[in-house]
Amino acid sequence: MTALTLSTSSAAALRADAVVVGVAKGAKGPVVAAGAEAVDKAFGGKLAAVLETLGATGAEGEVTKLPAASGLKAPVVLAVGLGEVPAKGDGYDAETLRRAAGAAARALSGSKKGAFALPIEDPAGVSAVAEGALLGAYTYDKGNGNGENAKGKDKKNNGPLAEVAVVGGKPRDKAYKAAAERATALVAEVNRARDLINTPSNLLNPAAFAAEAVAAAKEHGLKTEVLDEKALKKGGYGGILGVGQGSDAPPRLVRIAYTHPKAEKTLALVGKGITYDSGGISLKPAGHNETMKCDMSGAAAVFAAVVTAAKLGLRVNLTGWLALAENMPSGSATRPGDVLSMYGGKTVEVLNTDAEGRLVLADAITRAGEEKPDAIVDVATLTGAMVLALGNRTFGIMTNDEAFRTTLHEIAGEVGEQSWPMPLPDHLRKGIDSPVADLANMGERMGGGLVAGIFLKEFVADGITWGHLDIAGPAFNESGPFGYTPKGGTGAAVRTLVRLAERTADGDLG
Ligand code: BES
Ligand code: MN
Ligand code: ZN
Repeated sequence: MTALTLSTSSAAALRADAVVVGVAKGAKGPVVAAGAEAVDKAFGGKLAAVLETLGATGAEGEVTKLPAASGLKAPVVLAVGLGEVPAKGDGYDAETLRRAAGAAARALSGSKKGAFALPIEDPAGVSAVAEGALLGAYTYDKGNGNGENAKGKDKKNNGPLAEVAVVGGKPRDKAYKAAAERATALVAEVNRARDLINTPSNLLNPAAFAAEAVAAAKEHGLKTEVLDEKALKKGGYGGILGVGQGSDAPPRLVRIAYTHPKAEKTLALVGKGITYDSGGISLKPAGHNETMKCDMSGAAAVFAAVVTAAKLGLRVNLTGWLALAENMPSGSATRPGDVLSMYGGKTVEVLNTDAEGRLVLADAITRAGEEKPDAIVDVATLTGAMVLALGNRTFGIMTNDEAFRTTLHEIAGEVGEQSWPMPLPDHLRKGIDSPVADLANMGERMGGGLVAGIFLKEFVADGITWGHLDIAGPAFNESGPFGYTPKGGTGAAVRTLVRLAERTADGDLG
C-alpha cells in the first residue's frame, strides 16, 4: 500500500514528484488555499492568477497540473479544487479535504511521491488528508489471478502513488502521529475490503474467503471459527445451506472475533457474503449479473472492520459473522416454493431464490443473537429497491430502535459516508406471510428494501438493539472514479463500522 509520512519541511523544500495545493472557488475567481504559501511565493504570489489563466476555477474535484516555478524542489504543482471558500472563521470540512486529497492521489498514480500541502489546521485535518490520499491512491492489481496486474501479462498497471507526504503534519506531536497511524490502519483495511470485492468470483469462493479471514486473524491475534458445509448441516443452518446448495463451491459461516480484556461492550457485525449472486433458479437476466461478484461486500466490510479494531486495540469486543455462499442454479439448487428450516427453527418459503441475502443473514443474525451482544449490525448488498430509492452513493439504515438509527446516521456522516434512515412500516409484515411456512422470503414489490429489513427483524432476538445497512448502492462503483472512490469495490460501510466500534469503546453512543 501507499506509504504515509508526516513532513515538517516546507512545501517548497520537499523532494517529491509533485506538490499538491488546494484551490477554492472565490467570488472573483480561484483562490489558493492555506498550506500553499511557500508554493505561491515561488510563483511570485501569482499562483491564483496562473491557475485562472489555465482555466482552473476551484470547483470540487478539479485537477490542474502545472510545471513548478524555480525555488520548488518538486517539478510539478498539482492544484486540486476544494469547492466554495468556507465562510469566514470556518475551515474546510473533513470530507472536502478527503475528496480533494483523493482526487489528487488518483491524478498522481504511477508517481513515487506526492507532497500534500492542503489546508490542515489540526490532527483531524491530517486524518482527512491522509485518509483521502491513501484511499484515492488505491488500485486493484490482482485481476487475472497471476497476482501481478489486472491488465494481462504483458501490460503494466500504472500502480498507486507510492508515497504520500502530508505537509504540516507534526510527526513528534502525539495527536498528529495517532491520526496518521489510525488513517494507515483504517485505509489498509478499507483497501483489503476493496480487493476482496474486486476479486472475480472464480478466484474467491466461500472457502477461499474463509481462508483469507483465518490468515488475517492469525496475523492480528483474532479468534476464528469456520463452519463448513458439514458443520452447517449439523448445526441446522438451513438458510446458508439452502442458498449455497446449487453451487459446486460449498458455503461457510465464519466467526471472527476481536476481544479486549477491558471491554465493557460487545458488538456483533453480520455481513452478507454472497461470492456470486446469479439469482439461482430465479436467474437474473443479462444486464443484472455482471457485477454480482460484489455481493459479498457486506462480509468484506465486517471482516475489514474487525481487523481494524484489532490493529487499533479498541476497548470493545467485536464479533464478525461472515455468511458466505455462492448463489447458483443447478440440479441441486433450491427451487422457488421450497421451504427451508432456518437456524433456530423458523421455516421460510423461498418464493424467489434471488432474495438469497436475507436467508443467509437470517441464520447468521440468529446465531449472533445467541451470544447476547449489546447490539447487532448487519451489512448487506441486499436489495435493488434500495438502489432505486437512494441511488448509487447512499446506503439505507433500518433498525428496531429509533435512537440507534439516528446514531448510525450521525456516525456515517462523521466519517464521510452518505446514508439515510429508512422506516420499517408494520403494514408490510403481512406481505411476507406464507401458507406453508412461518415466513416467505419475498413480499410486496413496493418498498422492497424495507420488506427485506422487516424479514431480517424477525430473526433478531428480543431485547437486542439491531441495525441493518443496505449498501447495495454504494458498495460497487460502476461509473468512473470520483474523489477518493475508485471504480469497482468501494469498501462502503467499513469506516462507519469502525467509528461505531470506536464510539462504543469510548462509551459514547449518544
Ligand atoms: N444482490 C441483490 C441485490 C443487489 C442489486 C445488489 C443491485 C447490488 C446491486 C439481491 O440478492 C437481490 O437480488 N435482491 C432482489 C430481491 C427481490 C428478488 C425480492 C432484488 O432486489 O431485486
Ligand atoms: Mn439476489
Ligand atoms: Zn444478492
